[in-house]
Amino acid sequence: MAEQWTPASWRNKPILQQPEYRDAAVLKSVTDQLQVSPPLVFAGEARNLKRALGNVCDGKGFLLQGGDCAESFAEFHPDNIRDTFRVLLQMAIVLTYGAALPIVKVGRLAGQFAKPRSGPTETIDGVTLDSYRGDMVNEMAFTEEGRIPDPTRLMRVYNQSASTLNLLRAFAQGGYADLHKVHLWTLGFAAHGEVGEKYKDLADQIGEALAFMSACGMTAEQTPQIRETAFYTSHEALLLEYEQPMVRTDSTSGDFYDTSAHMLWIGDRTRQLDGAHVEFMRGIKNPIGMKVGPTMEGDDLIRLIDTLNPTNEAGHLTLIARMGSDTVTRDLPPLVRRVKQEGRNVVWVSDPMHGNTIKSSTGYKTRPFDRILAEVKGFFDVHNAEGTHAGGVHFEMTGQDVTECTGGAQAISDTDLSDRYHTHCDPRLNAKQSIELAFLLAEMLKENRQATA
Ligand code: PEP
Ligand code: CO
Repeated sequence: MAEQWTPASWRNKPILQQPEYRDAAVLKSVTDQLQVSPPLVFAGEARNLKRALGNVCDGKGFLLQGGDCAESFAEFHPDNIRDTFRVLLQMAIVLTYGAALPIVKVGRLAGQFAKPRSGPTETIDGVTLDSYRGDMVNEMAFTEEGRIPDPTRLMRVYNQSASTLNLLRAFAQGGYADLHKVHLWTLGFAAHGEVGEKYKDLADQIGEALAFMSACGMTAEQTPQIRETAFYTSHEALLLEYEQPMVRTDSTSGDFYDTSAHMLWIGDRTRQLDGAHVEFMRGIKNPIGMKVGPTMEGDDLIRLIDTLNPTNEAGHLTLIARMGSDTVTRDLPPLVRRVKQEGRNVVWVSDPMHGNTIKSSTGYKTRPFDRILAEVKGFFDVHNAEGTHAGGVHFEMTGQDVTECTGGAQAISDTDLSDRYHTHCDPRLNAKQSIELAFLLAEMLKENRQATA
């Protein structure tokens, strides 16, 4: 019998990847303030997302999850939020056409500020300081003062997330996402070249389809799906001092929801069965995700699934596979097969980013576009072979014209990386690479559809 869960029961378990706050009184005053601050999302919205993911689980939808590896205070700007949002919309449009399925859109946004690190400290030229753990914790600059974990950053994250979410809601429901605007979503630098042309052709086709529908009497006024979209937020539930005070009891159901985002996930480094993160996640009713890396074994996976989703509810648990392009077709099949055999309801999605990070010849952390594509392709092949639904993709991407991942139609090379390498953590696909990838994915989805028709 599992012990009683409370929003604080994680404190009785071993925990990894947390900062060591020096001043407990300041931490308490900040978390007390969070506790009485308005929730960022409403439980009913989290349930809507869970329902949409339940459909994905049944093979009737596809999840597109994407955004920054780490949001930052420095990059906080309405244009950045808009650009990431519109690239996600563009990708979703492209995928809708390929999959002929509803695309569930979830941003890594409005809360994605805490990062797991390979070590608690970092040493440069004989100086050892705390590792940078994301803007939620400390400063990236390597200075003694900046690296001291600062609890007041939790409140800043809350405030930045609240205004980010406010703008996202306005875009999603206030007319920006109207399908009549598909042409206008194109970003300056992504509008040109082969990918830009392809997008323009697709937008033309959508325009014609809308004109036809309007002639048949289906207009944006009567059909909300034409003029607005559902857009959800997510982040890694890593810093539990932030997540705990955001947990609220839903007055309509009596259940606990973590109101810091619609969806939360556990990273590959903090998914220990007896650990604090699994304990925290097992008690919240939001849709949750868990990263599944190459060290995952079948027995553990089933135990984790049963702990995180004890009622086997479809849409509650999403498994985010991040294996590596060369090993996905070897390491993923036994896990997919086992979950299927045991009848566990999960959504499987592919994160083709985190298993494919390499150091470029110029010293930058990068991810080659071809490897990213190869991992997604391998993921699809595995699900085709196992007769299971490849339920979605999880990308680190931005609407900005950065040079962080090599390759793609733009042919970004190792020496180009230094031009606009802005990430606060891992390398992201830029807008053009993201849309290009969406087109390649759409082709895969279409082939699958034709093969099974
Ligand atoms: C991430 O998604 O940014 C991350 C740290 O991934 P993982 O837990 O899969 O390494
Ligand atoms: Co990352």
